[in-house]
Formats: sequence, C-alpha cells, structure tokens
Amino acid sequence: MKLLLFCSFLVISCHGNSKPDSPHFTSIFSFGDSFADTGNLVVLATPVLKDIWIDMPPYGETFFRHPTGRCSDGRLVLDFLAENFSLPLVPPYLEHNSSFEQGANFAVAGATALDFAFFVNNNLSSPFMFNGSLSVQLGWFADLKPSLCKSYEECQEYFRTSLFIVGEFGANDYAFMMFGGKTLEQIHGYVPMVIETICAAAESLIKQGAKTVVVPGIWPDGCTPANLAQNTSRPIEDYEPETGCLKDLNDLSRYHNSKLLKAVKKLQQKYSHVRLINADYYQPIMDFVRTPHSFGFIDTPLRVCCGNATNQYNVNLTEVCAMPGVGSCENPLEYVNWDGVHLTEAAYHHIAQGWLTGPYAEPPILNSVDN
Ligand SMILES: *[C@@H]1O[C@H](CO)[C@@H](O)[C@H](O)[C@H]1NC(C)=O
Ligand SMILES: *[C@@H]1O[C@H](CO)[C@@H](O)[C@H](O)[C@H]1NC(C)=O
Ligand SMILES: *[C@@H]1O[C@H](CO)[C@@H](O)[C@H](O)[C@H]1NC(C)=O
Ligand SMILES: *[C@@H]1O[C@H](CO)[C@@H](O)[C@H](O)[C@H]1NC(C)=O
Ligand SMILES: *[C@@H]1O[C@H](CO)[C@@H](O)[C@H](O)[C@H]1NC(C)=O
Ligand SMILES: *[C@@H]1O[C@H](CO)[C@@H](O)[C@H](O)[C@H]1NC(C)=O
Ligand SMILES: *[C@@H]1O[C@H](CO)[C@@H](O)[C@H](O)[C@H]1NC(C)=O
Repeated sequence: MKLLLFCSFLVISCHGNSKPDSPHFTSIFSFGDSFADTGNLVVLATPVLKDIWIDMPPYGETFFRHPTGRCSDGRLVLDFLAENFSLPLVPPYLEHNSSFEQGANFAVAGATALDFAFFVNNNLSSPFMFNGSLSVQLGWFADLKPSLCKSYEECQEYFRTSLFIVGEFGANDYAFMMFGGKTLEQIHGYVPMVIETICAAAESLIKQGAKTVVVPGIWPDGCTPANLAQNTSRPIEDYEPETGCLKDLNDLSRYHNSKLLKAVKKLQQKYSHVRLINADYYQPIMDFVRTPHSFGFIDTPLRVCCGNATNQYNVNLTEVCAMPGVGSCENPLEYVNWDGVHLTEAAYHHIAQGWLTGPYAEPPILNSVDN
C-alpha cells in the first residue's frame, strides 16, 4: 500500500494534468446529514418508516435517472468532489456492498451533531430522528478502519492522501430544538456545545491520521423555503429586504458559522501539520438568492422545483416532493432549491466548484500544498 501511494504521488508530480503541487486525493471519508447522505438514511429508515419519499421519483431524476437515497434531483457537493478527484462516487457505508478503499460516506439525512440521547433527555426527539448522529458516524468509521489499515503508522500513511469532510452538522440540531418548542434565544445557547462536538470529531480524526479536513458551516436557514412556507403572514420587517429570507433564522446560521470559523482556526493553530478547510454553504446560497441570473437560476430563487403548493415558495408542508400528485419542475437546472429543504444538483455543482477553487472555501481544496 505504501509503495502504491508513493508511486501515485510521483506520477502526479511529474506528469499530472493538475498543477504539480495541487493535492491528489486517493480517498474521501464523509460525515454529515442530508446535504451529504448518498443512501444511508434509506437503509436505516426503510424497516421503520413506511414512507420516506426520498427513495421515490422524482428524487434522482436528473443524473442517476432513479432515486439513490440522495435528497436531491441529482448529485451532491460530495459527488462533484469525488468526480473532480477521479474517484468513484463515495459509497454509503450502511449499504456494505462496495469496497471502501477509496472512501466511505457515513452521512445520514437528519443527522445531528449532538447525540440522540441529548434530544431524548431534553424531550426534543421526534419519530423522524434516527440514531445516526456524529458520534455514531465516528463509530462506524472506527468499525471500518481495521479493513483499511492496521497500525497507527499504516493508518497515518493511508489517510495522508484522504480528504475528510466533517459536516455540515448543526442545522438539524437547531431544527429539532425548534420543533421541540425551544425559542431562538434558547437555541443560541446550545450553539457552543454543537461547535465543540463538531471540533472534537475533527480533532479525533486528526489524531487518527487525517491530514486534510474540510469543516463546512451551515446553510442560511432563513432562506430555506420550507421555513419560509411555515408562516406566510409574518410582518414584512421579519424579512431581509434584499433577499426575502427570514432575518432571525439567518442570524442563527451566521452565529453558528462565525463560532465554527473561530473554533476551526484554533484547531488549525494546534495542528499546524494538518490542512483544515472552512467550507461554506451560507455564502453561495445567499449569492444564488441575491443574483440568481448570474448562476442561470430563475428570478424567484426561493421557489422550489419539486412541490405543488399555492404559496410563492411552492412548498406545502403536508404535501411534499414525491408524494402522489406532487411533481417537479420542467428544468431543475434553473432552480436553487429542490424540495423545500435540499438543493438541486445545479446549486450543489456551483458550491462544489467554489469549494475546489474558491471563493466558497478557505483555503480552497485545490489550493497548492507543500507536502
Ligand atoms: C477539477 O476542477 C478543476 C477546477 O475547476 C478543473 O480544472 C479540473 O479540470 C477538474 N478535474 C476533473 C477531473 O473534473
Ligand atoms: C448495493 O445493494 C443495493 C441493494 O441491496 C443495490 O440496489 C445497489 O445497487 C448495490 N450497490 C452496489 C454498488 O453494488
Ligand atoms: C415533552 O414534550 C411534550 C410535547 O411537546 C409535552 O407534552 C410534555 O409535557 C413534555 N414533557 C416534559 C417532561 O417536559
Ligand atoms: C445509538 O447507537 C449507538 C452506537 O450504535 C449506541 O451505543 C447507542 O446506545 C444508541 N443510542 C440510542 C439512544 O439508541
Ligand atoms: C404567523 O405570524 C404572525 C405574525 O408574527 C402570527 O401572528 C401568527 O400567529 C403566525 N401564525 C402561525 C400559524 O404561526
Ligand atoms: C396543501 O395541501 C393541502 C391538502 O391538499 C391543501 O388543503 C392546502 O391548501 C395546501 N396548501 C398550500 C399552501 O398549497
Ligand atoms: C397539483 O395539485 C393539483 C390539485 O391537487 C393537481 O390537480 C395537479 O395535478 C398537481 N400538479 C402537480 C404538478 O403536481
């Protein structure tokens, strides 16, 4: 294995089609929620819930031409990253039917950073909550590891050329708290705990040999059409004039992201031999909403593609995408949002590009490294 990795580095640095010193990844290990899940929730939920909808058409219609367990019409950021590194699309860990040598995806739609037990103990759990939180995902990684590498040294060598992605996490924690009746003020109080949990996970991976770790922030929750559709008779001053997004929820997202940024910077100072990358879902979505035309989107960027509702967002909270009679738009390429919560492949593609070369990651993933 060592020899093989060494050779692939040589090939890249002498004849690679990328810049000689741009990083060459040989595997991807992904942790996260529905923005990164490529099929794990379907495996977890199928025996428990009758209908989860994401395993029904039109999910998956754009690229795969069938549902895959991804919460989108097509590929996610993770898929575009894998494609860019000429790696296979990262297989969902719970399917257990492919090789994980070039990576594994532990992300579960709906996953929280905080443990399931936290929500149960605080009377915040819901039937749609599965025990697939960040610590559980780390446990799956620990289960998988012996099949990839044995000693600490061997694992360090293996993970030296792996891309680790820890997130996004946090948006579901806050959503479940909101459903459970917590006020936004109370929820702000939980943010430091969520950030600590995410950073502890990143640190644990670093201690196991991770050398490149991407830590994405959360999306602007006030621009999530399902949140906007919840109450369409809120006073005008609740909305950002420029975007039509909800101020209070976007404030929460920005608060989380600014705390995360600081925490990741601290981690970077502690582990100077590691590349920590701040990746952003917030700014790209704000850019899409502010200037939809420059990305090829329609001029009502908060209107979703898959839905059938009478409101401006096209989101009916009781009749969601893939339910009988709820179809999707003609051209998903022109929409930012797919189903009220999750983005379209077109939006994820722009974000992936911004993570690879900027401006939506700091430093951009493809920035040159001197290793
Ligand atoms: C990866 O992205 C970079 C930057 O956009 C691009 O130049 C390169 O061609 C891409 N590689 C592949 C294999 O898609
Ligand atoms: C894994 O198994 C599932 C069902 O058991 C199947 O639908 C899927 O195509 C398989 N994936 C691979 C990569 O073999
Ligand atoms: C838990 O939440 C439910 C519904 O929100 C409420 O009826 C119940 O009183 C709560 N229990 C406790 C112990 O707070
Ligand atoms: C969640 O899963 C983990 C690991 O599989 C287990 O240790 C834990 O007890 C589970 N928690 C609950 C509340 O079921
Ligand atoms: C919607 O918001 C208005 C104004 O804040 C409030 O009066 C009303 O109760 C809300 N409706 C629902 C269903 O929450
Ligand atoms: C959502 O669907 C229900 C049931 O079909 C319907 O009564 C309601 O008017 C719809 N609401 C919107 C906003 O489309
Ligand atoms: C939307 O709902 C209406 C009324 O239920 C139905 O007649 C129509 O076919 C639906 N359209 C789509 C695109 O789902």
